[in-house]
Amino acid sequence: MCGIVGVVSREEVASRLVDSIARLEYRGYDSCGVATLNSVGLEVRKGVGPVAEVAAREGLKSAHGTFGIAHTRWATHGGVSRENAHPHLSCDGQFAVVHNGIISNHHALRRELLDRGHRFLSETDTEVIAHLIEEIYRQEAPVEEAFVQALRRLEGSFATAMIAAVEPQKILCARDKSPLILGIGDEECFVGSDVNAFLPYTRTAVELDDGEYAVISRDGFSVRAIASREIRKKRAMNIQWSPQSAEKAHYRHYMEKEICEQPDVIRRALQVPQREISELARRMSAAKRNVFVGVGTTYYVALFGQYLLAALAGEFAPALSSDEAGTLGVWDPDTLVLAISQSGETFDTLQALRHAKAGGAQTAAIVNVPGSTMTREAKLVIEQNSGPEICVISTKAAMAQMVLLIRLAAEIARLKGVDRGTASRLAAELEVLPELVQALLASQRVRIRELATRYHGMRSWFFLGRGIYTPVAYESALKMKEVTYLHAEGMAGGFLKHGTLSLIDPQTPCVFLVPNREDRELYDLTMSSMAEVRARAGRVIAFAFDEGNESFDEMVALPETSPWIAPLLHLVGAQLLAYETAVVLGRNVDRPRSLAKSVTVA
Ligand code: G6P
Repeated sequence: MCGIVGVVSREEVASRLVDSIARLEYRGYDSCGVATLNSVGLEVRKGVGPVAEVAAREGLKSAHGTFGIAHTRWATHGGVSRENAHPHLSCDGQFAVVHNGIISNHHALRRELLDRGHRFLSETDTEVIAHLIEEIYRQEAPVEEAFVQALRRLEGSFATAMIAAVEPQKILCARDKSPLILGIGDEECFVGSDVNAFLPYTRTAVELDDGEYAVISRDGFSVRAIASREIRKKRAMNIQWSPQSAEKAHYRHYMEKEICEQPDVIRRALQVPQREISELARRMSAAKRNVFVGVGTTYYVALFGQYLLAALAGEFAPALSSDEAGTLGVWDPDTLVLAISQSGETFDTLQALRHAKAGGAQTAAIVNVPGSTMTREAKLVIEQNSGPEICVISTKAAMAQMVLLIRLAAEIARLKGVDRGTASRLAAELEVLPELVQALLASQRVRIRELATRYHGMRSWFFLGRGIYTPVAYESALKMKEVTYLHAEGMAGGFLKHGTLSLIDPQTPCVFLVPNREDRELYDLTMSSMAEVRARAGRVIAFAFDEGNESFDEMVALPETSPWIAPLLHLVGAQLLAYETAVVLGRNVDRPRSLAKSVTVA
């Protein structure tokens, strides 16, 4: 939540600051702003609205200065207003601050600062940081000392960046329980909430850990501990993602681009070295208990993992939604917790991992964003290498995670000796998945668009599947509600008759994820749920491999594949249906209302 950017360079930076916060808009997009230092002093330009709109209205790109900070906001403390947009200035206008996180003692700090004569212009917790630095600086502390002392007074979580009029060409930044990473260029330096902040300018990054602050300038960077000011040695890492991967190219929306990129993303998930999968599989086979955790989309991915492990390896490994894992989980040294996260920063999932670690459990993670907190906190990490996912709604990252889980489950089955040839068969089947997804995208796009056009007026949708299709049904419904704002529920077909049938009428489209006939038992179960819907005059939209069936009102035809791979094709169909429906409804596809991609607060 909230995107932070800072650039210090030889050249004018405003344009890059704006482009960078635009690339981070998935973190928040209700207001934004930039601060640079120029002949008029520290200049802040900011406003309410998405980056492109505010940039045009407030002239963000024409702010002068060769260093500066910028911010795109997802409101927590204080409503969405120009005053509450970041950056925030101290009373004397000498310090400008941007922040992501929650300062839990901000009321007390604000009272103290008010007593000392400070004037506040916003309702944010962030503004106390600027005044606190000013207050300490006034007592004749050098800027860096004032910054560190102010940080030590903050409780809660923060990633923050600050510039001071008295110390040009420097950015001071710090993190504690909110993400921040440095980018090191040629005679220029960057700071950002994640690597997308600076990917087009440098692929060399330096991770900051909690409790550290950094000073960056054109000549480089130094990192120290906030508590002791001791120097921390840091190693630079190389980001594998290509800078072009964050561009929208010829697509209308990032969501469309990311759905269409899936063949390639699957190939990259298949290129994750087998030794990494085997090592995780070995540890999971040795553990007495395995637990998956994730939240939102990644909870459904985790649930997909649970189904796979049960079916392929005969093992009960529950999936917990990270937000409830603290209550439900039993963490001990016999347990291995596998976290799944696109961003690697989600607060709930990090908390689940931390609880697990505190209880002595082993930890592992499947993560997309390199250099993210989870990649450092989990003991064993598999980086899925799906490239930047810019749309707030996760599509391609979830697909890659599911592919990796299929590989993992097959390997665990092999290690446990319950394989029965599945592992090698699945490996061969996964190899052709990219072409199948490609074929589906090419052949069904028009059909799905046509369905979206005809059904977009329906207010309530159901997505139904049985067995391994159940988590895909949940995820399909989540896609639909996130991007269209329509009510959508995913459900196991068998559960339908235990209450929800009362809602079925001709105005409720029910999307059935129909397995291939080879999967006889699941197929029959699915068809019996379908019969129940038809008996209540519900509309049946089938994603199916059949030539056609009189039980279907509508059908999206999927290319033939085997039972374990099939649900991934259904998922692509559901992603497209959600996307096309949102387009017909004129929704803000890449940045749906009220959502943020990376939820880094409790
Ligand atoms: C937020 C996003 C969801 C996402 C979830 C988990 O709620 O809005 O789209 O699925 O976080 O994110 P993660 O980065 O941990 O996969």
